Amino acid sequence: MCGIVAGIAERNVVPVLLEGLRRLEYRGYDSCGVAVLRDGAPHRVRSLTRVRSLDREVREMGLEGWTGIAHTRWATHGAPATQNAHPIFSQNEIAIVHNGIIENFEALKITLSGAGYEFASQTDTEVIAHLIHSYYQGDLAEAVRRAVSELRGAYAIAVFCKSEPERVVGARYGSPLVIGINGKESFLASDPLALSDVTDRFIFLQDGDIADLSHNGTRVMNRDGQPVVREARTLAHPPTEAALGPYRHFMQKEIFEQPLAVSKTFPRNSAFDASLFGATDPQAFAQIDRILLLGCGTSHYSALTAKAWFESIAKIPTQVEISSEYRYRETIPGKNTLVVPISQSGETADTLGALMHAQSLGQDHTLAICNVATSAIVRQSRWSFITQAGPEIGVASTKAFTTQLVALFVLAVTLGRARGYVDAQQEASYRSQLSGLSTALQGVLAREPQIIAWAHEIARTDSAIFLGRGSHFPIALEGALKLKEISYIHAEGYPAGELKHGPLALVTDAMPVVVTAPNDGLLEKLKSNIQEVRARRGQVYVFADADANLSNEEGLRVIQMPEYYGALSPILHVLPLQLLAYHTACTRGTDVDKPRNLAKSVTVE
Ligand code: F6R
Repeated sequence: MCGIVAGIAERNVVPVLLEGLRRLEYRGYDSCGVAVLRDGAPHRVRSLTRVRSLDREVREMGLEGWTGIAHTRWATHGAPATQNAHPIFSQNEIAIVHNGIIENFEALKITLSGAGYEFASQTDTEVIAHLIHSYYQGDLAEAVRRAVSELRGAYAIAVFCKSEPERVVGARYGSPLVIGINGKESFLASDPLALSDVTDRFIFLQDGDIADLSHNGTRVMNRDGQPVVREARTLAHPPTEAALGPYRHFMQKEIFEQPLAVSKTFPRNSAFDASLFGATDPQAFAQIDRILLLGCGTSHYSALTAKAWFESIAKIPTQVEISSEYRYRETIPGKNTLVVPISQSGETADTLGALMHAQSLGQDHTLAICNVATSAIVRQSRWSFITQAGPEIGVASTKAFTTQLVALFVLAVTLGRARGYVDAQQEASYRSQLSGLSTALQGVLAREPQIIAWAHEIARTDSAIFLGRGSHFPIALEGALKLKEISYIHAEGYPAGELKHGPLALVTDAMPVVVTAPNDGLLEKLKSNIQEVRARRGQVYVFADADANLSNEEGLRVIQMPEYYGALSPILHVLPLQLLAYHTACTRGTDVDKPRNLAKSVTVE
């Protein structure tokens, strides 16, 4: 989703800005742009193609300057079009880039139009540009401060103005923004990754902060204009985008990285201990009596999968909420509830909002499951567990999901141990299942050639149904989500027992029905559901455990999985569904790593 890079350098800042944008590309965008101050006026280049093309145009034009701002835009207000791409100017004096959504932009627009401002774009950002211009009286930071005090919604902005060429001002509320410092140079970015080429010293701004960057140093003030101290932190360089190696796409590479990612997330022989989650008091979890899991999309499905573990292993009532729903609904808070926001990026606006909402209700036992140690959700949480998936570039989440599941399973066992429901023998058994997971996943990945053959068939359809039962129902949901987001085939996941309550009406001989069939206590019931589909001539594709006793018959195609893997079986069963979606998308020729309309880091509501 939208990305910001800005800075005031002691050299031509444009290459830094463009490299920063390139590093943020994986988040998804539909336009990009850069502006610098040169010869006393702002100059910009905006593009509806990729950062690579923007770079070419910038070189051709010879765009150079020491002060600049740049942006990748994921359209919210106004279509992807050049006039809506950032940077946005006001009166050719103020230049701004913006992430987030301004909720009261229409009311502000009416007022500003009344004051004579003309609008050249459909963006909410232009309102901020004009507002800053209207308040500008020789002090950019003060004009920004006054302007943002009128905004409702979320924003991270970087601004320069033609009258103060050696100054860049940033502000944030609800959307992330960091300062990067390199001697007399200072930069702003929505993610430290964007600046990892120029610095490892960062200041994370907090909501309401305004940052004033100049060659004289960096000043941070709060919304009242009072100076505030924000500590600078040295970060080990975030890993840069890795090479594709032998793989065609990052998604395929990331699917195949899962055996390593899960073993890094829970190294062999680790203890199931509260310290794994950053709790110093071994009794930290003892009083927890309820769990609230928060997440969106794939992270929500990992929460749904884990609910079964928390209830069966740790015997704790567990509530799963979609972040964007939870934050606006009346709920009954619990003093001893452990609130667990789950997020690959750690920047998802809905999940961050849901976490803060949970905290505002007095629930302060918070534990983030996240793949990015420096992210807003981790910083906002009391405890955290950082999954070791490594950077996930493909927009469709794969290894982040399975490592989240490992983290949640480890948390369930840790809580079960703390509450006396898991004895030493069970603990040893769970540890050995986790230790063997990596090898088991390699066995599943070896099925890729058979899955490719199925993908060629599924690629010809417009619609598919995914079925699972119990802890594998969320895996069916995840399989359907993967297929729809990258192949654009309409797909729905259902608990298999629900089929006869409606969706069965969709089943014809043209409908592929993909089933995840572990050899668990629900297998016989699932087999009956499969028969219901076959009786309507539906085309059934089953991923069945080797000991599930299912084999190829007419109308029934079976790929044999390894033998049943116990409580961790959902982690094994999601891999073939990821591969099926991936190869179906490749067959249909879609842009697998950057599917249309989607972004990797969803920083707006
Ligand atoms: C789907 C996918 C999304 C994310 C969702 C939450 O493949 O990646 O559904 O899971 O946008 O993102 P995070 O986990 O970063 O909070």
